Amino acid sequence: MKKNIIIATITVLVFGLMAYTASQGRAFQGGEASRVIEDVTSKKNTTVQNIDTKSEQDIEAEKLKALKDKAGNIAAFKVSDNYKRRCASCHGIDGKGAVGLPIFGQSAEDIYTKVLEYKSKKRTNPIMRSAVAHISEETIKELAQEISKFKEAEAAAN
Ligand code: HEC
Repeated sequence: MKKNIIIATITVLVFGLMAYTASQGRAFQGGEASRVIEDVTSKKNTTVQNIDTKSEQDIEAEKLKALKDKAGNIAAFKVSDNYKRRCASCHGIDGKGAVGLPIFGQSAEDIYTKVLEYKSKKRTNPIMRSAVAHISEETIKELAQEISKFKEAEAAAN
């Protein structure tokens, strides 16, 4: 009688182990490993696509960086990191324009008003709008103050 109970217990354990191995097992058992192999095959194409877009993005990033570096080399006077980071890549390190229009020599009020007009979509340029969409009005005010002094700063530097 005792023997039977032990045999029954062992049988249950063995079946349990078999089920467990099958679920965790290698590909030929239809377990986890086979799903991995399936995944690799089905994701192959998307992976290749990702690599393609990534390198395109890298190229764009490099171009922007080159533009920024170029802009960063020609300042005759000191500008804030904030200006460098947010505006200089398009308006030039001295505000005299590049992709963006020249903003050098404009009054703080003019710059502030114009930027808000892009933000509020009264002015419709999409490049400029997205460039300032996430900059607070407070920061724009500070930047406008700073940019309006570029002319003075340049005169003092020369
Ligand atoms: C991604 C490029 C880009 C960035 C970054 C950018 N701008 Fe511009 N900005 C432009 C372009 C392009 C125009 C011209 C749009 C048009 O034709 O209306 C412009 C126009 C302007 C004008 C209007 C000029 C005028 O006299 O009509 C002001 C002012 C201005 N930007 C300020 C800023 C400030 C301040 C920042 C930083 C907070 C900034 N921009 C960041 C591209 C940019």
